[in-house]
Amino acid sequence: MALKFTEEIQRRKTFGIVSHPDAGKTTLTEKLLLFGGAIQIAGAVKSNKIKKHATSDFMEIEKQRGISVATSVMAFEYRGYKVNILDTPGHKDFAEDTYRTLTAVDSAIVVIDVAKGVEEQTEKLVEVCRMRRTPMIVFINKLDREGKDGFELLDEIELKLKLKVCPLSWPVGMGQDFQGVYNKYSEELKLFRPHSKQDEDTYLLRDLSSSDLDDAVGERAADELRTDVEMLTEVYPDFDREKYLQGEQSPVFFGSAVNNFGVKELLDCFVDIAPSPLPRITEERAISPLEDKFSGFVFKIHANMDPKHRDRLAFIRICSGTFERNTNYYHVRKDKKMKFSNPTAFMASKKEVIDTAYPGDIVGLYDSGNFKIGDGLTEGEELHFKGIPSFSPELFRYVNNTDPMKSKQLNKGVDQLMDEGVAQLFTKEDNGRKIIGTVGQLQFDVIKYRLLAEYGASCDFEPLAMHKACWLEGETAQIEEFIRLRKRNVARDKEGRPVYMAESAWMLKTVQDNHPDIKFHFTSEF
Ligand code: G4P
Repeated sequence: MALKFTEEIQRRKTFGIVSHPDAGKTTLTEKLLLFGGAIQIAGAVKSNKIKKHATSDFMEIEKQRGISVATSVMAFEYRGYKVNILDTPGHKDFAEDTYRTLTAVDSAIVVIDVAKGVEEQTEKLVEVCRMRRTPMIVFINKLDREGKDGFELLDEIELKLKLKVCPLSWPVGMGQDFQGVYNKYSEELKLFRPHSKQDEDTYLLRDLSSSDLDDAVGERAADELRTDVEMLTEVYPDFDREKYLQGEQSPVFFGSAVNNFGVKELLDCFVDIAPSPLPRITEERAISPLEDKFSGFVFKIHANMDPKHRDRLAFIRICSGTFERNTNYYHVRKDKKMKFSNPTAFMASKKEVIDTAYPGDIVGLYDSGNFKIGDGLTEGEELHFKGIPSFSPELFRYVNNTDPMKSKQLNKGVDQLMDEGVAQLFTKEDNGRKIIGTVGQLQFDVIKYRLLAEYGASCDFEPLAMHKACWLEGETAQIEEFIRLRKRNVARDKEGRPVYMAESAWMLKTVQDNHPDIKFHFTSEF
């Protein structure tokens, strides 16, 4: 029997995995897909990460782009739930892509390497989730290796990631002595046998003082676990789902993704507690997923890898109502009706044309250049989605055209690449020169390569010593006055908003002191 609309929404769990490269995101994703039956063998999900040693090898990037289309969204069914995993590039140069993908999820799983603890990229990504109050579950991975002490790690997570943790599982030993994990959530002890089949050697352990525990792991480890769990109960709060859903508490699990250990426990708890599709905010009003009229927004655009076919794939998150194939929808920014004959959904690495999609789902729409990141589609209502900000780039370069005959192509190429969100474009207020801002050097290589391959345009990048781009908030008259005074350091972003281009942290501080009525933001939404 067909499920009701509300049931379809409630059974959906759309989330992203965030981690520092190499913590085990790809491995964990793969194990989750194995549980969901979406893939049959390990190794089926290709890592979409760009290997560290290939940081400026763009042929490698092109290859990876092919892989990352397939892994953009991986959906699977598990215990009656429809789980949508949104892939987030781990490479730091693509952090902006990851930030945007996080606007389309309802919750996140944070993977941490037990030996390395909290790493830089994790800190940044968790901060983005925290800003959006995204509920997060933490998975501490690689327990089969020597690593940091469990309590030390929890302290580090609280301190560096500013998460209030609630350990729902606890390791028995570690590395060579790793014996298993005690799951507080289900009151089970699961013993570690590398590469074992699931569900083996699991004991229900309602009472930790039972001698069964000593028999299972030995007296010393049993005593240690008892003391640890006692301490956990004293120090950390009980799990409170409401707090988790508000982003105020994060359950923590321990395991080893590559050994498929602790992953099923994580998944079982995840589908129980993670939020179903949440409302989305627009400038006009909040949108409940339960509304019967369709709405959705574009959070990612993927260019076709074949330069002869200029079409792109725009990924849209369904926010309310049902999305139907071959139905006219309203493209708000362009003020025009559009319909889609081949909307694509992703099941693991398979793509398929779908007729209907529900809130929480991600659909890929073939696009010949109509969409840009943040665009809304509705049944006619003027809705402008919020919460898809641009972040200040880290690196800035002037773009210089090196082939005067191709300036049209260059402008078009730059425009389209910016719509895709590859980088950000700023136009200087005083002389109209164009500045491209990125998170890392790799993006400049990608842009240069793609401009030539796809648009026949060539350009050079001229280094520019710049610290941050700051979006301005204040009274219109004050901002206008600021622009007049600081024209040399003001540029417009793609939406025409004025941005102060700070040359250094010191300059920014000075300018802030001189203009106390203006607020300077490192993101375009505040
Ligand atoms: P990422 O997507 O977060 O970048 O990480 P990925 O899953 O690719 O994992 C990074 C490395 O860590 C891989 O090894 C992977 O096998 C290993 N790994 C993942 N989970 C565990 C675990 O629980 N225990 C241990 N010991 N290792 C784990 P690699 O050598 O870089 O690649 P591969 O050749 O094994 O694929």
